[in-house]
Amino acid sequence: MTDAPVDPTTTPAWTRLTTLAADFAPDLRGWFDADPTRATRLTFDAADLHVDLSKGLVTDEILAALLELAEEVGVATRRDAMLCGEHINVTEDRAVLHTALRLPADASLVVDGQDVVPEVHETLRKVYDFADRVRSGAWTGVTGERIRTVVNIGIGGSDLGPVMAYEALAPYRALPDGQGEIECRFISNIDPTDAAQKLAGLDPATTLFIVSSKTFGTLETLTNARLCRAWLLSGLAEADAAEAVAKHFVAVSTALDKVAAFGIDPANAFGFWDWVGGRYSVDSAIGTSLAVAIGPERFAELLAGFHALDEHFRTAPLASNVPILMGLLNVWYVNFLGAGTHAVLPYSQLMHRFPAYLQQLTMESNGKGVRWDGTPVTTETGEVFWGEPGTNGQHAFYQLIHQGTRILPADFIAFANPPYPLKDGDIDVHELFLANFFAQTRALAFGKTADEVRAEGTAEAIVPARVFTGNRPTASIMAPALTPSVLGQLIALYEHITFTQGVVWGIDSFDQWGVELGKQLALQISPAVSGDAEAAAAQDASTRALIDYYRSHREP
Ligand code: F6P
Repeated sequence: MTDAPVDPTTTPAWTRLTTLAADFAPDLRGWFDADPTRATRLTFDAADLHVDLSKGLVTDEILAALLELAEEVGVATRRDAMLCGEHINVTEDRAVLHTALRLPADASLVVDGQDVVPEVHETLRKVYDFADRVRSGAWTGVTGERIRTVVNIGIGGSDLGPVMAYEALAPYRALPDGQGEIECRFISNIDPTDAAQKLAGLDPATTLFIVSSKTFGTLETLTNARLCRAWLLSGLAEADAAEAVAKHFVAVSTALDKVAAFGIDPANAFGFWDWVGGRYSVDSAIGTSLAVAIGPERFAELLAGFHALDEHFRTAPLASNVPILMGLLNVWYVNFLGAGTHAVLPYSQLMHRFPAYLQQLTMESNGKGVRWDGTPVTTETGEVFWGEPGTNGQHAFYQLIHQGTRILPADFIAFANPPYPLKDGDIDVHELFLANFFAQTRALAFGKTADEVRAEGTAEAIVPARVFTGNRPTASIMAPALTPSVLGQLIALYEHITFTQGVVWGIDSFDQWGVELGKQLALQISPAVSGDAEAAAAQDASTRALIDYYRSHREP
């Protein structure tokens, strides 16, 4: 699907939105007072997610114009093209089919002449069989001991998804036979500190490595894999090296030839496909460490959750399609109200890596200045995503969200049921936690007027400092509990929000050429760092001076 993107700025809907933005005077207090149905009308359910958009800076007119914009740029057409396997990743000439990874086994999806669903489920069966063998103790290390720790070696999408989900689903990790749990550790950074710290305290005899890399060409991952192999072999010096690697290393990649060249038996490798982008791959074999940690049944629930949200995205009318609505609202905030960032604030300690995961998903997807036909974009694109769990963020950066000069849209995420229902005397601590979630979104929306501040007896001189303007946009996302299925739904929600924004902007959300230049230069600069005079001379003055600083300060 290589048709030129529709320039959104040429559409009637864009003109309408521009007019609406020029006169825009947000008034959430007034809007709620005038319309007692606002909260219910702007609250939507998608699978188990309950999403309240009523505290967003949106009126019926704006929403109608945004929905028109979606029609005029063809969001639904491109969604359907993606779901049926057209090559919408134009610059890499690839289909974009992470949604196929979570299709049920009895579905069928023929892409480029082949039904991909049987292959997906064949790989899943292999991953599940491996996970069961590690979890049951049937898979042993070279000394015959049971595996206690799995170390995933990967970076970007081959790390962020697995580690985020491993943390989020901590309450689901127990082994059924009362044997505790399989601990997973994640090595990603080429900073040797990462490998050093993550390997510390591990017993090579009970440690299994999963080298996760779509391309199997990523410098960080291959370097770390070699470090780990050396660590393993020096710790198991008595064992046959090839047998030790075979029993302690498996791989996940689309490049099985490179896996073999590294010395890992392809029989111990799990494949996936070039139509799965790295940042969309936690639900592929890249999630093998997670499948080991939570077990195949829970992993299948995660996939079912993804699929439930995919079905909502595929079938719900635009006007009640949650990812499309949220994507359009983001377009309104970015392109018409000037938002440059978007906060994601999970009221769940277990979700503490979710914002980091979303940073790759959203920013590697939509941080582009060129459209899918090679022409420059006509609008601002990808906003910065960031966040931390509440309530910690409240005591750090919320000041700026409440009283700063910038518009800062924020998604608040919370769950009705806590994984650990602790009480402080008679007080249910989860209720105290959620009271903060409700309080923050309310304060941001409705603020506190000068008269309300005065009525509290505040001295006039400090009244202005204590006023909250309100009209600070939030979305509230709730679900019954953070189950594997709900986590899958949340990830799919943000995948499809990202997609919607990308289509409006006309960009290929599935390539990532912007990461390449730095990688190439690192390889060129590396000899200079090690003292090669010619390579050093080829650098610019600033880079040369920095390398000199390094070389004169590095201790032998
Ligand atoms: O450099 C960026 C990137 O290509 C990401 O898109 C990807 O998730 C990450 O590197 C890791 O790539 P791989 O899985 O091929 O090692």
